[in-house]
Amino acid sequence: MRVAIFGASGLLGKALMREWSGDAVVGYSSRDVDIRDASAVRVIAEETEPEWIVLAAAYTDVDGCENNPDLAFTVNRDGAANVAEAAKKTGAKLLFLSSDYVFDGKKTSPYETNDARHPQSVYGQSKAEAEIKLLELMPESCIVRTSWLFGVGGKCFPETILKLAASRPTLDVVNDQRGCPSYTVDLARAIIRLCCESASGIVHVTNTGECTWFEFASAIVQHAGLATAVRPVSSQQMARPAPRPAYSVLSPESLRRLRIEMPTWGDALPRYLRQRNG
Ligand SMILES: NC(=O)c1ccc[n+]([C@@H]2O[C@H](COP(=O)([O-])OP(=O)(O)OC[C@H]3O[C@@H](n4cnc5c(N)ncnc54)[C@H](OP(=O)(O)O)[C@@H]3O)[C@@H](O)[C@H]2O)c1
Repeated sequence: MRVAIFGASGLLGKALMREWSGDAVVGYSSRDVDIRDASAVRVIAEETEPEWIVLAAAYTDVDGCENNPDLAFTVNRDGAANVAEAAKKTGAKLLFLSSDYVFDGKKTSPYETNDARHPQSVYGQSKAEAEIKLLELMPESCIVRTSWLFGVGGKCFPETILKLAASRPTLDVVNDQRGCPSYTVDLARAIIRLCCESASGIVHVTNTGECTWFEFASAIVQHAGLATAVRPVSSQQMARPAPRPAYSVLSPESLRRLRIEMPTWGDALPRYLRQRNG
């Protein structure tokens, strides 16, 4: 089958390009096509005639979105709608990447796909509005919500921790936000399966297990064999422009119904470190 990936130069896009084999896959970065440009997106879709469009392109800087809401909404919501319109026009199926940040983080048990959206940040709001718009335009599209991405080929939390740990004796990391890290390789493999099985509707796809950022940082430092001390702090002590959900673990039930099991984040972390060092 033919596949078009928007956001192919991003953290997840690079993993999708590496992991996808056996199909004709074409990847696009913002330099190839800006998803805010509806006619350019349509031209790409008409030229490629993909069976599937995977939309991983987004403005993902959560604090940047808070300071630039216009850009957040034009890329993340309106850009997504442009891609959905092009998919609809050309008969392609659409898989859209969304986020745990569509939730407010007030639950204490994993979020199910039908839990109410209640985003707390501009980024979360832009992804939530994109979901609603896409489901209006293409009710049969597949929306994959994921969280806390890490992988090689771009900025991510483990990369930041490893860089900081190389030069600092101690690191302060927040211990009151709980979620699930997701390795781009495992997420990419699950997305490929979802496309191969013509999945539709909202699906939660993360590695399994849960942790706080402090616990994740501690595991990264330990696995990397570094002596840096990691200290737990509160979100209040590390104030950022955009609020983050205190709890955003996504339930694996929707994925299990499709008979897809994800490895734990604890299994994924050493594989990531090997890939990074290899
Ligand atoms: N990172 C996370 O922790 C996380 C968590 C939950 C959900 N997600 C979602 O997962 C998806 C992939 O995230 P990621 O971390 O891989 O993103 P990323 O590394 O920030 O990459 C973003 C991609 O989007 C492209 N892009 C940005 N603006 C664009 C525009 N106006 N037109 C066309 N392309 C544009 C970028 O192209 P250039 O390289 O040319 O700029 C890049 O390929 C996103 O939808 C994101 O919202 C991410």
